Amino acid sequence: MAEHVRVMLTEEEVNKRIKELGETISKDYEGKSVHLICILKGSVFFTCELAKRISVPVSLDFMSVSSYGSGTVSSGEIKIKKDLDESIEGKDVIIVEDIIDSGNTLFCLKNMLMKRGANSIKMITLLDKPERRVADVEVDYSGFNIPDEFVVGYGLDYDQKYRNLPFIGVVEFD
Ligand code: IMP
Ligand code: MG
Repeated sequence: MAEHVRVMLTEEEVNKRIKELGETISKDYEGKSVHLICILKGSVFFTCELAKRISVPVSLDFMSVSSYGSGTVSSGEIKIKKDLDESIEGKDVIIVEDIIDSGNTLFCLKNMLMKRGANSIKMITLLDKPERRVADVEVDYSGFNIPDEFVVGYGLDYDQKYRNLPFIGVVEFD
């Protein structure tokens, strides 16, 4: 079965929105520094683009987590595959996610990081599928609300493929 990717959000639309998010964060954090936590691997492209658009001092750290769930729905538990390199104590943290689906991953992650003494923890996601939300998680900054379709590109994968696409698309099978 051949597959192709239909464009949902163009590179220009995505980059324009990330620039706006960066400007908003720069205003909100005026006089402070921002510690961005990139959730590997999907958020790498978004984190880089966002960090470039933030005008207050930025530091970065990376974390990799996996859901215990099987299939396409994540469970309420997560496993740390790679923990942060530095302490977040006293820092103003923003967790950077590529997409929020059920919300389980971010819900668990925020609860876990809250115990580590950060000064504040906010969450940003490039994409949000509100229809799919299960966990009671509040996102502080969101790029786009999208319909319930499986998307790829800009870091998001389908079987580890398509992360490098510079736009957001939907995989279709002919
Ligand atoms: P949640 O815990 O259900 O919110 O799952 C979030 C994670 O599931 C994201 O960080 C992605 O890794 C993955 N995910 C959810 N929806 C999609 C999608 O449409 N395309 C690619 N990955 C997705
Ligand atoms: Mg992810």
